[in-house]
Amino acid sequence: MAIERIVSGMRPTGHLHLGHYNGVLKNWVNLQHEAESLFFVADWHALTTHYDDPEIIEKNVWDMVIDWLAAGIDPALATIFIQSKVPEHAELHTLLSMITPLGWLERVPTYKDQQEKLSSKDLSTYGFLGYPLLQSADILIYKATQVPVGEDQVPHIEFTREVARRFNHLYGKEIGYEEKAEEGIKKLGSKKGQLYRELKTSYQEEGDDQALEAAQALIDEQQSLSLGDKERLLGFLEGGGKMILIEPEYKLTPASKMVGLDGQKMSKSYNNTIALREDPKEVEKKIRTMPTDPARIRRNDPGNPNNCPVWQLHQVYSMEKTQKWAKEGCTQAGIGCVECKQPIIESVLKELKPIQERAKDYIESPDLVKSVVAEGCEKARKLARDTMRDVREVMGIDLS
Ligand code: TRP
Ligand code: SF4
Repeated sequence: MAIERIVSGMRPTGHLHLGHYNGVLKNWVNLQHEAESLFFVADWHALTTHYDDPEIIEKNVWDMVIDWLAAGIDPALATIFIQSKVPEHAELHTLLSMITPLGWLERVPTYKDQQEKLSSKDLSTYGFLGYPLLQSADILIYKATQVPVGEDQVPHIEFTREVARRFNHLYGKEIGYEEKAEEGIKKLGSKKGQLYRELKTSYQEEGDDQALEAAQALIDEQQSLSLGDKERLLGFLEGGGKMILIEPEYKLTPASKMVGLDGQKMSKSYNNTIALREDPKEVEKKIRTMPTDPARIRRNDPGNPNNCPVWQLHQVYSMEKTQKWAKEGCTQAGIGCVECKQPIIESVLKELKPIQERAKDYIESPDLVKSVVAEGCEKARKLARDTMRDVREVMGIDLS
């Protein structure tokens, strides 16, 4: 099929840290070279749980964009935007809500889980229940083929697929579909139009898969056809209606091995993070004061790396040789813990240096950040508007 398009979002929850970098961000940076990529700040999603904290969201949105740019998301390759600046997401959310059974939302596992986890907050709201549907709108509005997410988000992507399927089932045959397809064929010109018809017949009457593929390739190549015509002609080949919304696949983010300073997963809620914009002196201090194997009280006591979070960091940051040095030095009491931490301090600082330099450039020119986002929003809106035109039409509210 045509090119891949990936869409992913992140809630603005504060400064990003090395856990985000080694998990999500590095993955995004790689993906932006492989597929058309759209990355957005999910500020409405943040409001579903932080509705009582508007100032924080506002500040976090810009900090997050700066962190993305600093981490290497390149606005020349990827489209960076803010969810609330593309109000079409909300319109699609509303329209999809008409066809989404309440039970589907209530059964999404994150719904009850999060309510229990964040029990200090009243999350028995309409917005929170609709969280996955808003996410579906974020994805479906761009006809994304792939959504890079962590494991916890898989149920949301599966839910999105079900919503898209239901939508296509209900509305896939647009009014005047056959006539429009015929008009599309005329736009191919007489020769290619004739070829299209022959291939379609071979496929539909004889089940010739090669004919189907040839016809799909023919349509894909037509640069002068609009996206709508292309999709209609692709759908027409297989006899069905037009696929208005695309069922996306999830693309699991490779698991990050990043541990926090205390050996638990790095997370703001555990207070064990190193922020991407952490001051180098602070980085050094944080690593220097990390807990180590509690059995190693004196320098002469041999230690066990398996009981030490520093060793876990060696596994992320050190080459084999350094790892060997640390392991032997620890078990044979040949090195002290401060010594053992030194290569990690150096590696982390080395990793952070270019990120912090880029961040500094962006912090110093907020206008540049705003213009990157403005341009991204504009691009995203164009795509979103195209989808909404089709969606409104088939739902009978085109009214033009
Ligand atoms: N729910 C996602 C998270 O918490 C964020 C998100 C919102 C998202 N909309 C999205 C991710 C669309 C992928 C695609 O991580
Ligand atoms: Fe941990 Fe290194 Fe100290 Fe061993 S020597 S306890 S691995 S910091």
